[in-house]
Amino acid sequence: MSIYSRIAGVGSYLPGNPVSNDDLVARGIDTSDEWIVTRTGIRARHLAAAGQTSSQMGREAAEKALAMAGIDAAELDLIIVATSTPDYIFPSTACLLQGALGNKGATAFDLQAVCSGFVYALSVADKFIRSGTHKKALVVGAETFSRILDWKDRGTCVLFGDGAGAVVLEASAQPGILATALHADGSQVGILSVPGQVAAGQVTGDPFLRMEGQAVFKTAVRVLADVAEECCTAAGIASGELDWLIPHQANIRIIDATSKKLGLSRDKVVVTVDRHGNTSAASVPLALDEAVRDGRIQRGQKVLLEGVGGGFTWGAVLFQF
Ligand code: UT7
Repeated sequence: MSIYSRIAGVGSYLPGNPVSNDDLVARGIDTSDEWIVTRTGIRARHLAAAGQTSSQMGREAAEKALAMAGIDAAELDLIIVATSTPDYIFPSTACLLQGALGNKGATAFDLQAVCSGFVYALSVADKFIRSGTHKKALVVGAETFSRILDWKDRGTCVLFGDGAGAVVLEASAQPGILATALHADGSQVGILSVPGQVAAGQVTGDPFLRMEGQAVFKTAVRVLADVAEECCTAAGIASGELDWLIPHQANIRIIDATSKKLGLSRDKVVVTVDRHGNTSAASVPLALDEAVRDGRIQRGQKVLLEGVGGGFTWGAVLFQF
């Protein structure tokens, strides 16, 4: 009998109060609500409090997902945290989260694929469960991107926010995750990066997020449509049969261009970017959690998750809820 991994619970967390585009203008950033909304669809983002970390936000999201699944943290045998903004260089954010949740003994590690991190991590957890070695997995996307933004660079700082989302996956005889596809192109490292490091007790290089916006935009639209088709083909369905598309929440124009290429109407696409901006690895599980909790996504429906980001990385996960 085949083993599948099935989503048993979802959760998410946004820190503090929303910070509007006008709030950014009031803080002295040379921008406008009109520019940000027209170019990106973003109206607000949430910013972590001083000292608030990715593992702490991940814990908030994880506890909600565990409660929905009816699973105690001690039962988890796999914890993967997708993040590019870990609490420390080491130990991993996953081990910090594991300690905070009171789990001992589970396999725990971080996965770094920037904004594709959550779909990468979900796909990896699916493979662990399908192999039969693990049965109950927690997959978290958690980010404090506000700490790696150059607040003097209006071309990037208005785009990102902080937050976390989580999924509990369980081994099941019923599907489950139907197909996954993951890709990367290391020849494009330069279009989206934080090209700094800690060495000899100091930050060397550039510790801020740098992006060639238009190059990222064009590549994202191309690969998101391609990987969606690839994933649907692998599962033996047409993209038109999808009940829901949950793309990486970075820019409404990228989301609209992708859904148009796939022939999906806007009412089949979950959009939350307006309320939290680009939260990198947290964006897909934040949107998933909202659409499950408000009843849009129903058991039995087919949902496609998609990520795209620095690396350059991209990927998709198709599942039946
Ligand atoms: O996870 C993936 C993450 N990244 C993305 O999804 C980003 C993908 N790229 C984009 O979304 C778009 O390229 C941006 C929204 C980043 C930029 O939009 P654009 O239409 O490509 O604008 P641009 O960079 O070509 O800049 C156009 C103008 C420039 O002024 P001039 O040279 O035409 O006078 C910029 O200086 O807009 C100016 N500008 C701004 N103006 C007001 C750039 N940022 C801002 C700003 N407020 N925040």
